[in-house]
Amino acid sequence: SAPLEPFAVTIDFATGALVPDPDVLDRRLADLDGYFVADIDDPGVGAYTVHEVRVPPTGNNLLSSTTVLAPGKVGDEYFFTKGHFHAIRDRAEIYLTLSGEGLLVMALEDGRTVTKEMRPGIANYVPGHWAHRSVNTGTTPLVFYAVYIGDAGYDYATIAERGFPVIVVEGEEGPEVRPNPRY
Ligand code: F6R
Ligand code: ZN
Repeated sequence: SAPLEPFAVTIDFATGALVPDPDVLDRRLADLDGYFVADIDDPGVGAYTVHEVRVPPTGNNLLSSTTVLAPGKVGDEYFFTKGHFHAIRDRAEIYLTLSGEGLLVMALEDGRTVTKEMRPGIANYVPGHWAHRSVNTGTTPLVFYAVYIGDAGYDYATIAERGFPVIVVEGEEGPEVRPNPRY
């Protein structure tokens, strides 16, 4: 395909806002109905926002976006993103955390799970085949920049139905990763 024009975007590390910022997606707790162990009190509360860099979603391009995940809990569980496998399973991704703190939960189809810390300066590599969800364990927005192969796509259904093998809850001494009672 024909070369694209080189371009740049400016990223605000604190808010995740892009300049320019043409494609913004807002997720409320209502969009996470059925994802938490406890019931959601207020479905209108904002959970996260995704700001996408506009590039054709093809296998020769790199898509990128910032995610701004609010602090908060439903029951004992910290706010999280829906989480997904890539529709093309082997497509990899990198998450670079810009502000806040959290955990990146990754799981294979067979249930094997790896959890990694997210904090400013850490670049997490998510290999293909690993479903991924970010969890805000802090008290400020968790902001990260994701870069992924353009044709990766999304498979949300598997996670929407089964959840992840683990949940992240607030324990006596901070965040705890526990088996998901509903997995
Ligand atoms: C793209 C990617 C991220 C997420 C974003 C929101 O492949 O992993 O840009 O899409 O953090 O999370 P989800 O898509 O799980 O709602
Ligand atoms: Zn992804």
